[in-house]
Amino acid sequence: MTQRKILVTSALPYANGAIHLGHLVEYIQSDIWVRFQKMQGNECWYVCADDTHGTPIMLRAEKEGITPEALIARVHGEHTRDFAGFHVEFDNYYSTHSDETRSFAEGIYRNLNDAGLIEVRSIEQYFDPLKQMFLPDRFIKGECPKCGTMDQYGDSCESCGAAYAPTDLKNPYSAVSGAKPELRSSDHYFFKLSDPRCQQFLRSWTTHGALQPEAANKMQEWLGGADENRLTDWDISRDAPYFGFEIPGAPGKFFYVWLDAPVGYMGSFKNLCNRTGIDFNEFWNKGSTAELYHFIGKDILYFHALFWPAMLEYAGYRTPTKVFAHGFLTVDGQKMSKSRGTFITAESYLQQGLNPEWLRYYYAAKLNGTMEDIDLNLDDFVARVNSDLIGKYINIASRCAGFISKRFDGRLSRELPPSELLRKLKAPETWKKIGLYYADRDYGRAIREIMLLADEVNQYVDSKKPWNLAKLEGSSQELHQVCSLAINLFWLLTVYLKPVLPKLADQVQSFLNLDEEKMKWDQHNVLFNEHQIRPYEHLMQRIDTKQIESLLAANKESLVNDTLAPAQATRAKAETSHISIDDFTKVDLRIARIVEAAHVEGADKLIRLILDIGEEKPRQVFAGIKSAYDPATLVGRLTVMVANLAPRKMKFGMSEGMVLAASDTDGKSPGLFLLSPDSGAQPGMRVK
Ligand code: MSP
Ligand code: ZN
Repeated sequence: MTQRKILVTSALPYANGAIHLGHLVEYIQSDIWVRFQKMQGNECWYVCADDTHGTPIMLRAEKEGITPEALIARVHGEHTRDFAGFHVEFDNYYSTHSDETRSFAEGIYRNLNDAGLIEVRSIEQYFDPLKQMFLPDRFIKGECPKCGTMDQYGDSCESCGAAYAPTDLKNPYSAVSGAKPELRSSDHYFFKLSDPRCQQFLRSWTTHGALQPEAANKMQEWLGGADENRLTDWDISRDAPYFGFEIPGAPGKFFYVWLDAPVGYMGSFKNLCNRTGIDFNEFWNKGSTAELYHFIGKDILYFHALFWPAMLEYAGYRTPTKVFAHGFLTVDGQKMSKSRGTFITAESYLQQGLNPEWLRYYYAAKLNGTMEDIDLNLDDFVARVNSDLIGKYINIASRCAGFISKRFDGRLSRELPPSELLRKLKAPETWKKIGLYYADRDYGRAIREIMLLADEVNQYVDSKKPWNLAKLEGSSQELHQVCSLAINLFWLLTVYLKPVLPKLADQVQSFLNLDEEKMKWDQHNVLFNEHQIRPYEHLMQRIDTKQIESLLAANKESLVNDTLAPAQATRAKAETSHISIDDFTKVDLRIARIVEAAHVEGADKLIRLILDIGEEKPRQVFAGIKSAYDPATLVGRLTVMVANLAPRKMKFGMSEGMVLAASDTDGKSPGLFLLSPDSGAQPGMRVK
């Protein structure tokens, strides 16, 4: 087989948030694919980086009182740790805030400019007079011009779904400072996608097979018919203050984060090349025969299927071989939600002691290479891992390996009984068939095939019953051969599963005392006769449902967010936006005095409050207000609590209610404000 040269990327996660299980759909999907390519002996490089620029990151750093550089350095550490924790193995995990990325971004910009594809135009935009900055759409709020719902973002309404320009909002305000924004004009730099050259190029690029069929169709919608010119120029500049790269020759103007983000793929790869001597140009020059694949979520298709290929084409580089878009993760059929505890961070999953390979296995079993959303159904997750991964696959080794160590000195038998099943597992057709499923990212099918084989192996073991043979006089040789065959079959299944379960495969490799060659794709020759193995140690635990409960509880920390999420959900459905007075009076609101307040060990968001509401015994409540309050300053003050909320068992103890606080609904804008009554109110008074 000729060795292919392949470069793979995953989308660069923003440097202002934690990696969560949604992100991991992508990184696990790409990692499996890369591992499969490497196992086959291809030269395959996998690079990624943090996406570090833009207004949200700048404001987040400001809010934390640190420089953006310090913020992105810290997050880089967290992201690196989380990916390693899930065995996502990049050849380089870099940052877009790098010399390499800057230099490519500047070069690409110059080439586009030389090609006559950059234009400067003055545009009018909202400006925050207090913060002295232009506001991105998402940082302007106001009333929806269509349905009048308050506090909607500048680009679309969460209540009626209308899309509009920020200037259409009624009574707009800055989400950064609350100030009324003013319209100001300023020069912006545009990439002229409306140029007929770009239109024509994209029309052909998006239909030549680089995109999945459903993605190609979407692009045709965006591009319009051949006689239309639907693509508009792309605004690639932002005014200072902005955390990013300044545009050469344009003081005070910065590249918009989405210009340098994909350039970060090149930056990260260049950094790898500098360290290892790989030839960068061989992968990126026009006419390169190396393959370039981008794994992305369907939400960022526009950038990767239109802007990015056009940038590359007119800056003189090769374009991607394929863009692989995947769908979004839902948990138990719904969007991940902080109030349900299903907005699960990678960190919390690992901290709760859940095995990362359980998730890798489950995602693999669900992925099929299309843009369909994938659902993490928590009951199904437990069931599949326990019944398939443990019950079918691990079970083979745990039932047979012990006899080899105890009865045969750890040596496999000299000969194996004839076995159609062994022939099948080694057959070139089987490697090829399952290999194609991996290559097509149809991992669900690969897993189904492998589990069918595991079923057959189990049927074999069940039919031979080594545990009975062990007790039978004169059956020693048969026991030896049956167990040795089962171990061989287990080894082959492990190689098939290795892209998905790399850590487990390493453990098996060591337990079976095998060299690296025996763990590559396409094993058809050797059975290890009289091969010495090591004593079997348990390879993988079953999931205990309690672990899932505590995972949800750990991610349900913030009670303040609880009060907000249902409100948002209500807004999403316009017809349920009114409640009756009876609905309201169901909520028993009471004045509470905070008698004690303390940090909670191991919780980043919670403060433990002891609240006096005039009852015999004070209530304990865990409140997600740590980011905004020092416990010492809370003791003695009055606030408002929901007294009839069902008590909830949390990781740290019972929470017997909820205190009320105001905050921005997305939790992104600074500030969290505990409610207080006017003076004179007494603990226990009802609030109506
Ligand atoms: N920074 C941009 C990408 C720049 S690429 C040059 C970005 N970052 S992100 O952190 O929001 O998302 C990173 C990747 O994770 C994206 O491909 C995105 O689609 C994916 N996912 C984020 N949340 C997801 C789910 N809930 N489900 C599946 N994938 C998700 O976009
Ligand atoms: Zn609306």
